Amino acid sequence: MNHFLWQKNTLPTAEIERFTVGRDRELDAYLAESDVMGSMAHITMLESIGLLTADELSVLLAELRHILKDIRAGEFHIEEGVEDVHSEVELLLTRRLGDVGKKIHSGRSRNDQVLVDLKLWTRRQLREVVTLTKTLFDELQAQSERYKGVLMPGYTHLQVAMPSSFGLWFGAYAESLTDDMLFLQAAYKMVNRNPLGSAAGYGSSFPLDRQMTTDLLGFDTMDYNVVYAQMGRGKMERNVSFAIASVAGTIAKLAFDACLFNSQNFAFVKLPAECTTGSSIMPHKKNPDVFELTRAKCNKLQALPQQVMLIMNNLPSGYFRDLQIIKEVFLPAFEELKDCLIMTAYIINKMQVNEHILDDPRYDLMFSVEEVNRLAAAGMPFRDAYRKVGLDIEAGTFTPVKEVHHTHAGSIGNLCNKEIAALMQDILADFHFEKVEEAEKKLEEG
Ligand code: ARG
Repeated sequence: MNHFLWQKNTLPTAEIERFTVGRDRELDAYLAESDVMGSMAHITMLESIGLLTADELSVLLAELRHILKDIRAGEFHIEEGVEDVHSEVELLLTRRLGDVGKKIHSGRSRNDQVLVDLKLWTRRQLREVVTLTKTLFDELQAQSERYKGVLMPGYTHLQVAMPSSFGLWFGAYAESLTDDMLFLQAAYKMVNRNPLGSAAGYGSSFPLDRQMTTDLLGFDTMDYNVVYAQMGRGKMERNVSFAIASVAGTIAKLAFDACLFNSQNFAFVKLPAECTTGSSIMPHKKNPDVFELTRAKCNKLQALPQQVMLIMNNLPSGYFRDLQIIKEVFLPAFEELKDCLIMTAYIINKMQVNEHILDDPRYDLMFSVEEVNRLAAAGMPFRDAYRKVGLDIEAGTFTPVKEVHHTHAGSIGNLCNKEIAALMQDILADFHFEKVEEAEKKLEEG
């Protein structure tokens, strides 16, 4: 039995139905909670403008709360013959409440419904990503502080270059996350605007109170222009994907460093045995698979903006079914990113560093610049000092002093971890998650 919201006197063939519904039954399940929340706000507003009676509203709200509970208990699914989550929720209401269920769609289209669902869902996902990013940030900063006194070689061209430290290495990735957090915040602020009321993309002749649904759902503002609100489909996903890709880029780079530094040829860091995996043939192997998988997954996530863009980029304004396909790449991406954030924080916490790498003479030459600077500080022109040390090295007479005195901001001896933490804190303070949480709770509990 088919239940198409738009069913009149003809039905699509089974082939057309299969192809157009596509993976919506599976993917719209992600949006189920948000769909119900959006409907709760919409019908509360409909009552305020006289399109539902107070009694009708209260039965509908009670049933929607019921459905919300079922969703959370894992007892909600989109049935065969039902196109999408929007149809399923409306069908459940009409099945259980009769004709009043058919009233909820006044002044709304599935186009603004899916827009608001995606925004509510993405807003919650971003909140989780922000929290997990902050946890990883804290782990990196903790390791940076713990190992701030341990030197390691720094490379350019993958050639031994200058002294670096584990404090710098861990701390660099923490600071990288502060920039990623700015992207997340920009994305979040764009997400946190209400498209509901744009209907099919051109508004409605009902006197919709869009400010009311904006407030009920805890949005900062609305997407005012109804045509623009619809244009946000695809654009929102693309911009959020840029933020996801930014975080993923940091993790992928960190993962590559970690794989390299964990190899016996470097042996800068070590993972406890229980954080590695073995080989079926080589009994000695302890492989850093977690970093290899986070690297691959995060490299894949960096393709997300391109994937979204290729689907939506050359569409004119107005709704198209093309937009449905974005859900296939966009929705599952959050689970993958969150998992990578969790695993990276987990393993960074357990990573041990080699406090004796610099005993190996292969790194002696990285102290050459220290020697040049010492001579220059004592009055020799820099270029002459450079030449003298270079000639000593070639003659085999250079003996390194394995000590560094780097004191300027952001250097080995002055990591500025506190300043970096303050930078992160400033950005976090500007999310105002509490406002959204409050609104959602109020709407849910009535
Ligand atoms: N499954 C559709 C999507 O994700 C829902 C909106 C359907 N709207 C329409 N005009 N056919 O885009």
